[in-house]
Amino acid sequence: MKNKLITDIPLLDSSESVAPHTEAHTPCTTPKITEDNALPHQRKLYIESFGCQMNFSDSEIVASVMLEHGFGTTSNHLEADLIFLNTCAIRDKAEQTIRKRLMQFNVIKRKRPDLLIGILGCMAERLKHKLLEEEKLVDLVAGPDAYRDLPNLVFKVDDGQKALNVLLSREETYADIAPVRLNSNGISAFISIMRGCDNMCTFCVVPFTRGRERSRSPYTILAEAQELFDKGYREVTLLGQNVDSYKWTNLERGQKLEELQEPKIEVNFAQLLEMVAKIHPDLRVRFTTSHPKDMTDEVLQTMAAYENICKYIHLPIQSGNNRILKLMNRNYTREWYLERIAAIRRILGNECGLSTDIISGFCTETEAEHQDTVSLMDAVQFDMNYMFAYSERPGTLAAKKYADDISPEIKRQRLEEIISHQREHGHNRNKLDVGSTQKILVDGYSRRSQEHLQGRTSSNKVVVFPKENAKIGEYVMVYIEDCSSGTLLGRLV
Ligand code: 5AD
Ligand code: SF4
Repeated sequence: MKNKLITDIPLLDSSESVAPHTEAHTPCTTPKITEDNALPHQRKLYIESFGCQMNFSDSEIVASVMLEHGFGTTSNHLEADLIFLNTCAIRDKAEQTIRKRLMQFNVIKRKRPDLLIGILGCMAERLKHKLLEEEKLVDLVAGPDAYRDLPNLVFKVDDGQKALNVLLSREETYADIAPVRLNSNGISAFISIMRGCDNMCTFCVVPFTRGRERSRSPYTILAEAQELFDKGYREVTLLGQNVDSYKWTNLERGQKLEELQEPKIEVNFAQLLEMVAKIHPDLRVRFTTSHPKDMTDEVLQTMAAYENICKYIHLPIQSGNNRILKLMNRNYTREWYLERIAAIRRILGNECGLSTDIISGFCTETEAEHQDTVSLMDAVQFDMNYMFAYSERPGTLAAKKYADDISPEIKRQRLEEIISHQREHGHNRNKLDVGSTQKILVDGYSRRSQEHLQGRTSSNKVVVFPKENAKIGEYVMVYIEDCSSGTLLGRLV
């Protein structure tokens, strides 16, 4: 099945982020939907996923759980018996978009009262009873750790009972569930390696909606990656809110060392990365998201040691000013961040792709502090940047402790300045690739022409080139002849 993106629904506005595609915990407001997988007698499920890649990955777990219990999937909401929205709560605008979508599905439900509408994910976790009982917009509510319970929740709705499970878990990693690949090109897939987040950045709702951090067993991660490779996939992206703090041990929570029947094993992120890279030199390995406070030289050295670990790091800075970083509880300084960038350049060279996240207009940010962010961007020259105006989220530490006192107008002005610097930096960085030859994994046709193919460089840049005899799913060498601010243009060598 080919990718299916809903692009023709006017109310879905993706202008909030200028991201060309989504990253691990970088939201996008364009939903992705399920594909057709249902047998004629089965009840049909249609899932729309909003937000970060973790949500898209979770929807593949949801589809798997539902298929196991006799449901099928469909890409057409009009023929669905169940509609699940896997939601994002990271900014108010994401929630508003999803609300509008819920309203649309409720219009359909008025004509078809048997249609079951469920809300999953971060917004479900955040709003809990509100959508079910107060507003009566949904029949079912399931938080990110409750997906095994979904079939049971559906049967509760069938029985006329309240169907809500928003319990967060300290253990659940869905490790044993083989995701059903949705919207897959058969070449790249996401593998969730951990869940939750313990960082408590003051602006962020994720620790409240996704719960405590826990790492998935490396054995199941390796088995999943191996299976993907055997099926012809050539790229996996390891997903976590903070992959650098991945830590798995065979000593279970509460278990004493002397109770362990085997030697104690601990696996950190650098070790996991190496294990996945060793599956096959033709399997590209990517990961996201890294955290500046936790990203070690060991990870960078592992990246350097394996050609198939892609030379690209998403390292959110959020602000270039130390007072604001402290208010955000990011636990690093501007100087520390710049030192991590220097380490990337030292160990991986200038070709390593770099992207970041930036928030404009966080509580009490002054013009001079905003200029610190701009000057940091100028110094680093990111290849890509996911840029957002601060949006206060109820329940977060920032909402409790600080006034959201920067006007929308100033937030917007600062954001525009950040975006315009980024455009220049992205273009500068692309120009550096002109004249080089790059190894590309071909992942599809160019958006503009069937005569052109496209793929990504190790550094995660999109390259478009005349197709000649190249095939989707293959590695090719491309000489880069030209570039725009977003794309490299080349020809096969
Ligand atoms: N307002 C604006 N942006 C936010 N992000 C997270 N929370 C907020 C918020 N309340 C951004 C951060 C994060 C990315 C996923 O979303 O930049 O890295
Ligand atoms: Fe949110 Fe910070 Fe955790 Fe990222 S690291 S999910 S921004 S709390």
